[in-house]
Amino acid sequence: MRDSLILEVKDLTKRFGGVTAISRCSLALEPRRIYGLIGPNGSGKTTLFNLITGLEHRDEGEVRFKGERIDGLKPHQIALRGIGRTFQIIRIFPELTALENLLVVARSTGGAARRRALELLAFVKLDRLKGEYAGNLSYGQQKLLEFTRVLILDPELILLDEPAAGVNRTLLNDLLEAIRGLKEQGKTVVIVEHDMKVVMGLSEKLFVLDYGEKIAEGPPEAIQNDERVVEAYFGR
Ligand SMILES: Nc1ncnc2c1ncn2[C@@H]1O[C@H](COP(=O)(O)OP(=O)(O)O)[C@@H](O)[C@H]1O
Ligand SMILES: [Mg+2]
Repeated sequence: MRDSLILEVKDLTKRFGGVTAISRCSLALEPRRIYGLIGPNGSGKTTLFNLITGLEHRDEGEVRFKGERIDGLKPHQIALRGIGRTFQIIRIFPELTALENLLVVARSTGGAARRRALELLAFVKLDRLKGEYAGNLSYGQQKLLEFTRVLILDPELILLDEPAAGVNRTLLNDLLEAIRGLKEQGKTVVIVEHDMKVVMGLSEKLFVLDYGEKIAEGPPEAIQNDERVVEAYFGR
């Protein structure tokens, strides 16, 4: 195990009945990078995030965060250690305001938490909507709000599960700018994204899953021309 890695996944396997959702998957993530995780529908991307964040329990393998085993920990323990994630399906509270949505997940209440929440809303240009009920925000604005909710606990590693899906072009640019900003703040990001242009433009390195197996990894240019990847996407 290398100390310089922020996350190391080793030979991870997860089965659901007869389906092997993740199959002997290994990944090594260096800090302060943006990674893309791609693969056809059902290839195991969300399951991999669920295993890393403790929502699902692995059958085999290890997950290490900053050198320490985290497989076996509870989701809230993993969150407190510094891994944050968004969900493919929005999980905000529609009956709370945008600002309240951030404050309910903050570790403390009071002035500092409020200032941080306002700063995060400004980070994604939602500050003028702070008093609006989250349920009244557009779909794209709700996705941005969900994204800021992950940041309130100040995670070092951020897993984004299709944050751009259904987000219009203007908001998408705000989101992409915010994700690049995270790297500048020293954070590590893994993004699951179907839009190849978006994920290739954002990621320094991509991991490709197919039927739960990692079939390729490398910089976007290499992945685009990888035979197994092309086959997985277009060959069926
Ligand atoms: N809770 C579950 N119970 C049973 N099968 C599941 C469960 N979660 C995922 N799967 C199966 O595992 C495979 C991977 O799913 P998923 O991780 O959601 O893929 P992706 O996010 O890449 O679309 C699929 O075959 C899916 O049907
Ligand atoms: Mg998914």
